[in-house]
Amino acid sequence: MNIFDELGDKHSVFTEKKYLDHRFLPDKLPHREIQIKSIAKYWIEALNGVTPPDITIYGKTGTGKTAVAKFAMKQLKEAANNNDINIRTEYIRCTDYTTEYQVIARLCQQMGRDVPYRGWTKAEVIHTFRNLFKKNAFGKNLILLVVLDEIDILLKNDGDGLLYTLTRTDNVSILSISNYVDFKKFIKPRVKSSLRDREIVFPPYGAQQLVDILEERSKLSFKDNVLSDDVIPLCAALAAKEEGDARYALDLLRTSGEIADEKSTEIVHGDYVREAKDFIEHNKITDIVMTLPSQQQRVLESILFLTKRREEITSGRLYEVYKDVSKGDTVSYRRIFDFINELEMLGLISTNTVSRGRAKGRTNIIDLQCETSILEDAIWGM
Ligand SMILES: Nc1ncnc2c1ncn2[C@@H]1O[C@H](COP(=O)(O)OP(=O)(O)OP(=O)(O)O)[C@@H](O)[C@H]1O
Ligand SMILES: [Mg+2]
Repeated sequence: MNIFDELGDKHSVFTEKKYLDHRFLPDKLPHREIQIKSIAKYWIEALNGVTPPDITIYGKTGTGKTAVAKFAMKQLKEAANNNDINIRTEYIRCTDYTTEYQVIARLCQQMGRDVPYRGWTKAEVIHTFRNLFKKNAFGKNLILLVVLDEIDILLKNDGDGLLYTLTRTDNVSILSISNYVDFKKFIKPRVKSSLRDREIVFPPYGAQQLVDILEERSKLSFKDNVLSDDVIPLCAALAAKEEGDARYALDLLRTSGEIADEKSTEIVHGDYVREAKDFIEHNKITDIVMTLPSQQQRVLESILFLTKRREEITSGRLYEVYKDVSKGDTVSYRRIFDFINELEMLGLISTNTVSRGRAKGRTNIIDLQCETSILEDAIWGM
């Protein structure tokens, strides 16, 4: 027997693992009916030849924003085909196209204009883009719906020029997706006034909602009767604690199944979910630590050292230890505060300001937010 046949034949609890992948777009999205309808209510105007209002979607990570937007795009495309109407939908992830130039160039390319990703002036690209909307020979208007996913990244990186250009182009409607409710602080008043957007909020999923989502997905991806009864409720409960993140819930479910396969068992047990949780946590922390600049790794190492000694970690004490750990190749005391901020944003530590009375003023106390053993592996295992 061929080795690949043998491996391929290996017993598995999965039928089709790909249905648990983040990129898979299910055709049922439980508990997002209201949000999908809200989008459809605005976009339906496009079917009548009218440019729909702009829309903004907000919500924490894993609340289904991308999935819902893509679902709505797909539905509109189908409806437009049936109606013989000139509508285009384009999806742009602003982590891939991070400047106004890149986004407009991408849109032109998608719509059949050969625009280079660099070299032209911005005005040339915008001109080419706007020409796409001149009435064509049949007198039909083209309506373009652009989904700008993770728009906060682009706004931070390149300002609000893109929104200005798009809102000032007739026949273009924008659907922006943001993780932050306050992303509009990056938009200047002149752009805000032309972005008369409708806002749709995606609340975090509750545990029961996550159960429904996971059940739907597990039917597609697991063999019958391989999940013990507590698996899905456990994944859902753990993900509900992580701010109702459906992506995390799906990761837990998939990893639990992979653990069952690795152990060559026929049943996915609840215990595997806990193992999956540790495994995912471990990987996440290792990934973060590995991509940190080395000086920052030294700061983290110092925090780990002090945590293990059960010392209270003030920035002063941290700097002392850090100077030792970094062996002369040391950054300034002020720079340490930037590092502390960044580590906190990554969720590795938390800081807490305590008052030490009049004389001593206020002090920042640092707390490690992950297991010391995982962090040790991540730091020493490299
Ligand atoms: N209601 C739902 N039903 C089925 N699957 C869902 C639902 N909501 C989210 N998912 C799935 O959960 C995963 C995360 O969803 P999605 O990518 O849409 O989240 P997001 O809000 O865009 O998160 P982020 O802010 O991190 O980009 C995807 O695999 C998606 O298919
Ligand atoms: Mg998303």
